Amino acid sequence: MTEGVQTPPAADAGFTPRVFSGIQPSGQLHLGNYLGALKRFADAQERGVQSIYCMVDLHAITVWQDPADLRNATRELAAGFIASGIDPEKSILFNQSQVPEHAQLAWMFNCVARLGWMNRMTQFKDKAGKNAEKASLGLYAYPALMAADILIYHATHVPVGEDQKQHVELTRDIAAKFNHDYQTDFFPMPEPVIEGAATRVMSLRDGSKKMSKSDPSDASRINMTDDADTIAAKIRKAKTDPDALPSDAKGLEGRPEARNLVNIYAALSDSTVDAVLSEFGGQQFSAFKPKLSELAVERLAPISTEMARLMQHTDEIDAILGRGAARAREIATPVIKQTYEIVGLVGS
Ligand code: AMP
Ligand code: TRP
Repeated sequence: MTEGVQTPPAADAGFTPRVFSGIQPSGQLHLGNYLGALKRFADAQERGVQSIYCMVDLHAITVWQDPADLRNATRELAAGFIASGIDPEKSILFNQSQVPEHAQLAWMFNCVARLGWMNRMTQFKDKAGKNAEKASLGLYAYPALMAADILIYHATHVPVGEDQKQHVELTRDIAAKFNHDYQTDFFPMPEPVIEGAATRVMSLRDGSKKMSKSDPSDASRINMTDDADTIAAKIRKAKTDPDALPSDAKGLEGRPEARNLVNIYAALSDSTVDAVLSEFGGQQFSAFKPKLSELAVERLAPISTEMARLMQHTDEIDAILGRGAARAREIATPVIKQTYEIVGLVGS
């Protein structure tokens, strides 16, 4: 450690449990985002863990975003969080670009992460495709920015989808190398908290594919802004098989579409697959689907109504994001200051 550096907290002092997660403001929010992320976040908030949720606009611009669409998507995502029950007084809710410490720490981490590590990132390979020469430098460095998002708050738990696990592991590698190189215990080793099978929502057209904003078929997903008729029509047309519903979870094996609809019902009703099947086992999809539509509309309608209301009052959203950013900076400012000291950057 460099002389004169303030001694950081020892590893055995432990880090306060703190949740951080980010979602990119690009594309429409759908039922998968709600059940796999937003609803889980709202439930975690009720358990009292300190939680920080970020609209990662700096991540979004690693690929081209139309400025007006980006602004709109950032506000709509914030509205989705709030309408899903994330209380901006209890949790910290903000957009990444308003907290410059993310980008500052990301630069530190660009100097810690090795090219060899970055070359192993599968998401970059998927996103850049065959034409990697044309990908932005930002897209390549994206995982180091993600590590900064997490570590600037000394976050310990990171709820994400399976596809982001590798990036959280890279975050741990960066934290470990930083701590090792500067002989400090400054950064925690954050744990990925991966969404379970119960919260993985599959496409309504193909039970083997995740529901996704990038699926070209709009019928494959329920958007959080779909109205009641659209939701009912999509569920009515959802792919199923000709058999009746089984009476226990074992009977769903090899029936991915049936499993998906039952999972969705269980998640929306805060119940379990077994409880749903004990109610509907033996019934045909023609009887089950209307019940599922009713439940989906009942749960999603208040959310989409509140989202629409908030989108009429973008000043309200902007004020919430501004307050969230100020609270985020209260945590981030001392961390970047100490990081600079550890690294030997002179400042006051
Ligand atoms: P994305 O829109 O893919 O960037 O995902 C944003 C958040 O929603 C992440 O936490 C994902 O894990 C979650 N998510 C996205 N799609 C699904 C899905 N089909 N099922 C469950 N969670 C999902
Ligand atoms: N990379 C994540 C995704 O595409 C979004 C993200 C950015 C994130 N920073 C994060 C998720 C920090 C968790 C923690 O879904």
